[in-house]
Amino acid sequence: MTAGGTTLIYARIAGTGSFLPQRVLTNAELERLVDTSDEWVASRTGIRQRHIAADGQTTCDLAEGAARAALAAAGVEPDEIELLVLGTTTPDLIFPSTACLLQHRLGADGCAAFDVNAACSGFIYALSVADKFIRAGTVKTALVVGAETLSRMIDWSDRATCVLFGDGAGAVVLKAATEPGILSTHLHADGGYKDLLWNPVGVSVGFKPGEKNAGVRVLMTGNEVFKVAVKTLDRVVEETLEANGLDRHAIDWLIPHQANLRIIQATAKRLDLPMERVIVTVDKHGNTSAGSVPLALDHGVRSGKVQRGQLLLLEAFGGGFTWGSALVRY
Ligand code: COA
Repeated sequence: MTAGGTTLIYARIAGTGSFLPQRVLTNAELERLVDTSDEWVASRTGIRQRHIAADGQTTCDLAEGAARAALAAAGVEPDEIELLVLGTTTPDLIFPSTACLLQHRLGADGCAAFDVNAACSGFIYALSVADKFIRAGTVKTALVVGAETLSRMIDWSDRATCVLFGDGAGAVVLKAATEPGILSTHLHADGGYKDLLWNPVGVSVGFKPGEKNAGVRVLMTGNEVFKVAVKTLDRVVEETLEANGLDRHAIDWLIPHQANLRIIQATAKRLDLPMERVIVTVDKHGNTSAGSVPLALDHGVRSGKVQRGQLLLLEAFGGGFTWGSALVRY
């Protein structure tokens, strides 16, 4: 594509990958941990099971599995990566970043590598950052990852949160191309909602060196989060369509953040999209935060549902609050 005689550069998804830890935790097993039921969890959230990282298995381990699968699918060697952006809210270490740990494991030393913490919107944020680098002509090949081990900061005695989350990672390789590609990304945040979904312990608040940090846990006012999420996702979907001059019926696939099936259904309804055109993995993965959108995308691609040339709407909402979307010609 050209504009005023100048060839435009787009970021195109060259390959996708994902990785899930082996251990599956079912709702039936959770019934033995807290006062809940498979019926309650499945009917309120759509979740039936989630994957849980093994002892010693880290966010970087999951990210590596997803990254290697995406690189193989793209036919890209690690030393071709010029930028690595990784969305996570559960990094292996406070520093170095998980992106740096992953870069070294892959043998991509030397390229820029950094983490993005935007909670469940982490992958959409990371994708948007990498898209800008490619569009600016700064890099030609980027690896974008969303990876989490949320199980490590769940209070397993709190039924309001422990039934919702899981571990996993997804990744995409982006390459510069003359045809789209990522058409637009839209990022937002409102820190005024901090207390509705948060972890009250950080490095400069509540952290006790040398002691067991029992206060590290996800706290959430679920029904309030639910209401804001539905309204906010409606708005960002409208914004994305408007920015691209598109009718809602133009979307081939909705690839949403996988937090709750009822939130996903509300967004699909807004788009007048039948659920057959929505990639749903929440039943099997639970909410894997920054891992969820790239896991769903990879599932859509590898199952043969998502085809080259189709128009995909990716969206996410999470703690912060943060939210965002990406319109992608796959
Ligand atoms: N099992 C059984 N009962 C449970 C339960 C569980 N795991 N968790 C909560 N309950 C109970 C509550 O205690 C409450 O009981 P009460 O009526 O006696 O007080 C009742 O179920 C209803 O709770 P409520 O929180 O109003 O339910 P809900 O329909 O809003 O569903 C969520 C709860 C968490 C599933 C839902 O609010 C949700 O998905 N919110 C968004 C979460 C989200 O997306 N977070 C991440 C954003 S990235």
